Amino acid sequence: MISNSLARARKRDAAKLTKGLRGIFVYLVAISCLINVLALTGSLYMMQVYDRALSSGSVQTLIALSVIALVLFLFQGGFDAVRSRILLRIGARFDRDIAPTAHRVAIDMPRFGFSTTEAIERGRDVDTVRSFLAGQGPGALFDMPWIPIYIGFIYLLHPWLGALTLAGAVVLTLLTIASEVFARNISTEARQSAIGRSLIAESNARNAEVLKAMGFAGRATRRFAEANEAHLEMQSRASDLVGSFGAFSKVLRMILQSAVLGLGAFLTIKGELSAGAIIAASVASSRALAPVDQAIANWRPFVAARQAFARLRETVVALSQAVEPMQLPAPHRYLKVDRITVSAPGTGQVLLSDVSFDVMAGQAVGIIGPSGGGKTTLVRALTGIWPTLRGSVRLDGAELEQWPEEDLGRAVGYLPQEVGLLDATVEENISRLAEHDDSSGVIAAAEAAGMHDLIVRLPAGYRTPLGPQGMAISAGQRQRIGLARALYGNPFLVIMDEPNSNLDGEGEAALTKAIEQLKARGAIVIIVAHRPSALAAVDLVGVIQAGKLAAFGPKDQIIKPSLGAAAQPEPSKPMPGLPKVAGFGAQFEAERVSA
Ligand SMILES: Nc1ncnc2c1ncn2[C@@H]1O[C@H](COP(=O)(O)OP(=O)(O)OP(=O)(O)O)[C@@H](O)[C@H]1O
Ligand SMILES: [Mg+2]
Repeated sequence: MISNSLARARKRDAAKLTKGLRGIFVYLVAISCLINVLALTGSLYMMQVYDRALSSGSVQTLIALSVIALVLFLFQGGFDAVRSRILLRIGARFDRDIAPTAHRVAIDMPRFGFSTTEAIERGRDVDTVRSFLAGQGPGALFDMPWIPIYIGFIYLLHPWLGALTLAGAVVLTLLTIASEVFARNISTEARQSAIGRSLIAESNARNAEVLKAMGFAGRATRRFAEANEAHLEMQSRASDLVGSFGAFSKVLRMILQSAVLGLGAFLTIKGELSAGAIIAASVASSRALAPVDQAIANWRPFVAARQAFARLRETVVALSQAVEPMQLPAPHRYLKVDRITVSAPGTGQVLLSDVSFDVMAGQAVGIIGPSGGGKTTLVRALTGIWPTLRGSVRLDGAELEQWPEEDLGRAVGYLPQEVGLLDATVEENISRLAEHDDSSGVIAAAEAAGMHDLIVRLPAGYRTPLGPQGMAISAGQRQRIGLARALYGNPFLVIMDEPNSNLDGEGEAALTKAIEQLKARGAIVIIVAHRPSALAAVDLVGVIQAGKLAAFGPKDQIIKPSLGAAAQPEPSKPMPGLPKVAGFGAQFEAERVSA
């Protein structure tokens, strides 16, 4: 049932890419027909001039023929111009319709294990398709089906000439197919090598500070140079291939044109053909083969556009949803995590298995555990960033997928381990790019995060631009703006992944106060922490270790505050009645006592 409706949704979404193009396609075929019929003008004119005007010596006939030919040529040019305008507009419309969808897909791609470079490439795919549609290529494709008309015309002049042109067309077409077959693999590889190169460039730029401080920018550059070399190699192989095919087919066409003339002359000598027909056949044969030649010349953009379109289609389809979720009342009661198993998308490797716990409104949960244990993985499952393999995460009984994305987003506040702010102002970052003015909401969130006084001291206050990745402010400030963003709009479920890693004492006090306030207004707080100071306000504690929930319960049972530092168990010996947690209770206790 579900898979059926998903298949239908995918088909529908894929069809959106080419929506409304069928009517235009018919129109383009019709106009191409006119252009190609009119393109016989040159041949017919030559034939008439030679066979009628010259043989009769009539200037009047010559003038009449010339006027008719001129008018027909002008019509042909006009239709050609109309056709390229239509194609240009199809390209623009495609871009307008698809670019936002492609961007939406690109935003989702990194969550599913793709690099950001690959995600950005998806946006470029739209450009590739549009620029192909705006170029010479599509015209040639629409002219190709008319090749038989010219061959038929030449055949009528003389069958041998028709056969010769047909043979030429077949050879040229075979060449086109061969270049397609060879170019396909190379162009895919060239694209891969381009992505590889961009990946290195991007990671070098992101690590600028480290490269400078430890002086390995030179080595990083050499690594880039190697990738660049590999890319250039692929590029030139692709260009060589297309260039050789292009040159070969051009020469072939010239040979063919001369051969038509030669054969025509031979037939004229034999008395089987008029002089005018030789010229007419030559002109018609070159016109017949021009689309093939053009197609070869435009083959790379065509292959690139086709692959780009296929990728776009694939990603649009991947994003299809079988059922559009219905609006539900905002959650306000509980969070239920029911035996979830989570794997990193794209790898299938299980990182967290069989985790269950319940949290009621007004409760705060601390999640602790060793590095790499799976805390962030749990957080990703709770926010729906990563899908669960098995089990469910429910808010007031409804699974996360049952909520429309925006509604769920409003009910969730999330402070990731690496804060990541947008290249926008403080206000826009806190308000999650709210489109309407909501200064009171933004200020309330900043105040809840204890950040208001700090923000108003910034050069332009709330309107201060934060620069790329929010680099214009300090790490601690970024973390607190991230906290304000998580608190904006009074979400029901607030999840914070190591919110205190960059905070000073004042920041930690603000965090504890924020958690108290959240609990007081009936929200649920999940806070991942290494430092016990962040757990001052939590009621429950869960220990995540080696991909399992090793313990879950009231804070005082898990962390044992009653034990003094001296009475701590050995890290290797589990506390009686508690699962072994790799000395975590002890470590927390030691920090708590020293704090
Ligand atoms: N995108 C990913 N793809 C594959 N494996 C991943 C990915 N992210 C994390 N992992 C793996 O999952 C495991 C758990 O990682 P996770 O980030 O959940 O740990 P953590 O408990 O949050 O650690 P820390 O305290 O250092 O933040 C690690 O072994 C890590 O290598
Ligand atoms: Mg983590």
